[in-house]
Amino acid sequence: TFDLGGGNMSSGLGYNGQIPGPTLQARTGDQVTIELYNGLTQPTITHWHGMIVDDVNDGGPELAFDPGKGPYRYDFPIVQRAAMNWYHPHPHMLTGEQVNLGLAGAFIIRDDEEDMLNLPSGNYEVPLVIRDANFDKQGNLKYNPRSSGFVGKHALVNGTLDAKLDVDSGSYRFRVLCGSNARVFDLMMSDGRQFSLIGNDGGLLTSPVTVYQITMSPGERIDVLVDFSDLGPGDKVSLQDERSEWDLVEFEGTGAAGYNYTAASPLSSITPLTGPSTPTRTFSFDGMNRINGQEYDINRIDFTVPVDTTERWLFTTGGNAPHPVHVHGAYYQVVSRKGGRNALYPWEMGWKDTVLLEDQEEVEILIRFSIPSHYVMHCHKLEHEDMGMMANFVVA
Ligand code: C2O
Ligand code: CU
Ligand code: CU
Repeated sequence: TFDLGGGNMSSGLGYNGQIPGPTLQARTGDQVTIELYNGLTQPTITHWHGMIVDDVNDGGPELAFDPGKGPYRYDFPIVQRAAMNWYHPHPHMLTGEQVNLGLAGAFIIRDDEEDMLNLPSGNYEVPLVIRDANFDKQGNLKYNPRSSGFVGKHALVNGTLDAKLDVDSGSYRFRVLCGSNARVFDLMMSDGRQFSLIGNDGGLLTSPVTVYQITMSPGERIDVLVDFSDLGPGDKVSLQDERSEWDLVEFEGTGAAGYNYTAASPLSSITPLTGPSTPTRTFSFDGMNRINGQEYDINRIDFTVPVDTTERWLFTTGGNAPHPVHVHGAYYQVVSRKGGRNALYPWEMGWKDTVLLEDQEEVEILIRFSIPSHYVMHCHKLEHEDMGMMANFVVA
């Protein structure tokens, strides 16, 4: 059982007995070995969301194995830049339940380029895994999905209800991961203070961008600096979700001196992908369970992509959004959004692995795979994914 801060011990599912699971850290160039044992009562497999690895290490649905079995041995090199990724289960039709009951964690990659920026670190660098949750009368985590997506009544941040953090007078680096099943958040600070946005799914942006509101859908990550140097002892300000009007984290000033930091510009360099000017492929997210009219079939390969070749993909929807579109095996660049919100946002620049597709929208990306492998792409609203809004593909 887990102490989620509600006054009761809650039953749930944890990696190494923790909700969220331990924050893993590695550096670019490291070789990572991990052993996974299945102590659940259902099949499972762990996927390293955002990690560029081959199929035996990706943890896709075809690798799910039975309760009581293991270890499944992962052994892969880190071949990408600094970023914060996400690990979570990926067994077909069971992902939503297992994630909702607590199986998820952050995986931070570091590199020399990021180190040189001297970003806030130690106590001043805080991963925030944000999600919603429901509880039964005994206070146990409860998964009660709807086909339109799980809706939780409570905010759970780093596995804690009513999360609070004491902050010193200085800058903090918050590495936020949207780990909900289906809920989309519009983050803002309660007093309207700014976020200095420095990174997202695939690591640093080219330069910091000042924003006051950030939309995050399941699977997306953002990296922001928030300056609390004006907070006196006992002063409070919170990170809120504008949609639900929830306080996600309440910050209280300690009055102690902190780390004063202003992000340098440029932060990093990102080479724009160049590729075809018309879509190589179109993916229509149909209903609540199909892509291009087809439900996921674990034994059917839906398409093959040439390795080391930039393609332009177009995502469209017939409704039932939000559909956070996630692709395994590569980061991509979002090049346009037409219809609906009809704009790209600062948190969609740089390298992405998940992009939010709302009703009426058409989103184009440029994508290039570097590892010949077998992957999936899917809607990251986990209830849609579990019902079949997922496709198998091969990179060859
Ligand atoms: Cu977050 Cu297919 O994954
Ligand atoms: Cu993934
Ligand atoms: Cu969807």
